[in-house]
Amino acid sequence: MSEKPWGGRFESPTNEFVEAFNASIDVDARMYAEDINGSKAHAKMLTAQGILSQEDCNAIMRGLDEILGEIESGEFEFTIALEDVHMNIEARLTEKIGDAGKRLHTARSRNDQVATDTRLYLRHRSSRIIGHLRHLQRVLVELAETHADTIMPGFTHLQTAQPVTFGHHLLAYVEMFNRDIGRFKDAADRMNQCPLGSAALAGTTFPIDRHMTAATLGFDAPTANSLDAVSDRDFIMELLAAASITAVHLSRFSEELILWMSAQFRFVDLPDAFCTGSSIMPQKKNPDMPELVRGKTGRIIGGLVAILTTVKSLPLAYNKDMQEDKTAIFDAFDNLEGSLRVFGDMLPGMKVNKSVMHEAAASGFATATDLADALVRAGVPFRNAHEIVGKSVAHCIKEGIELHEMDAATCVNIDERLSVDMVRTLSVENCVAARDHIGGTAPNQVRLQVAAWKEELKS
Ligand code: ARG
Repeated sequence: MSEKPWGGRFESPTNEFVEAFNASIDVDARMYAEDINGSKAHAKMLTAQGILSQEDCNAIMRGLDEILGEIESGEFEFTIALEDVHMNIEARLTEKIGDAGKRLHTARSRNDQVATDTRLYLRHRSSRIIGHLRHLQRVLVELAETHADTIMPGFTHLQTAQPVTFGHHLLAYVEMFNRDIGRFKDAADRMNQCPLGSAALAGTTFPIDRHMTAATLGFDAPTANSLDAVSDRDFIMELLAAASITAVHLSRFSEELILWMSAQFRFVDLPDAFCTGSSIMPQKKNPDMPELVRGKTGRIIGGLVAILTTVKSLPLAYNKDMQEDKTAIFDAFDNLEGSLRVFGDMLPGMKVNKSVMHEAAASGFATATDLADALVRAGVPFRNAHEIVGKSVAHCIKEGIELHEMDAATCVNIDERLSVDMVRTLSVENCVAARDHIGGTAPNQVRLQVAAWKEELKS
């Protein structure tokens, strides 16, 4: 059974279905470049340490370069009989260069190999996700600048609360995405240690130079414990947690866009290119993209739960269960990247219905807190002020008017401390402009924040 690299001690062939079931090539083939780079670094190190001859090393380099070309041009045939990307590439190398190919696996195991490849691959993918998040931040900052003084109702409990500026609302997401970037960076920094040299679990009897391989592959250092290095999947958990939180942010944003695009809100209209229609109802324009992004969040969170559950009862060191790690994170990263891309492309084309937003903010008594604040400024304790404005609102609801429409007699009637001057100055413009402090919703503050973000996002 020696066509398998591990076939020596086996007497009968692998069950045919098991062969397919056991294979991970469909999932891990995408790590081919990392696998090849890892092998090159390993071979160079073995050569520098006198474990491999220069001649063998040259053949390995040449063979691996050819294989890279074959894979990238689509000529390479991956086979499930060789399980995974590691054995597929190694077998092809041996086919090409003979014994030198068979020497490559000296002082190495697929266990440290897969741990290394996965870290390298995810390092690259994380930086791409960070790039998408940065782009989305830039898009949002642009929009926030345009809408620094566009007024909309702010909500709590999805009930009209106080007027806010749309720019301020958008910048809230810029803050969230910034924390998301921080989480990806933290996780990527923490995982940037090289498992190569840990071999199967205990290290190797050869005089390897782990600093050399670590440095060649751009890691900060070699991992410090071989057992930990081959069984650690914390980095996948952390990245999936970061991905899940980012997806949750996108999902909240999606939910808002979906609501805002409904006939009941009409705050925004998403570009046709990002919506679809109905096969039966001719009038429909559906916000499919935010809906789908909201939906993707479920499966991304599913990936986090999957990796946590898979690893939770695993004894040290490597167990085959771990092969499932890549399915979860690759799916999550692909879908998160797609979601970020859609948002970055869709938002610049969003139409904002300023007058509808303004009208919504100006109704629903969004200025009530400001009237209470005016009473407080006149010496009324806040709790009494709250009560007086509450009565005013009840009166207005009964009369079908807004607070600023109450006349002098009505005011005095509700409470002698309530003056018509306080009531007349109530406007959504005054409400937002008055919240002019760090973190407040005033147009001034939005402009300051926009300027600060532009500076931050320059590079
Ligand atoms: N395909 C395997 C994985 O993804 C690689 C490591 C296999 N190691 C082993 N001892 N079977 O986990």
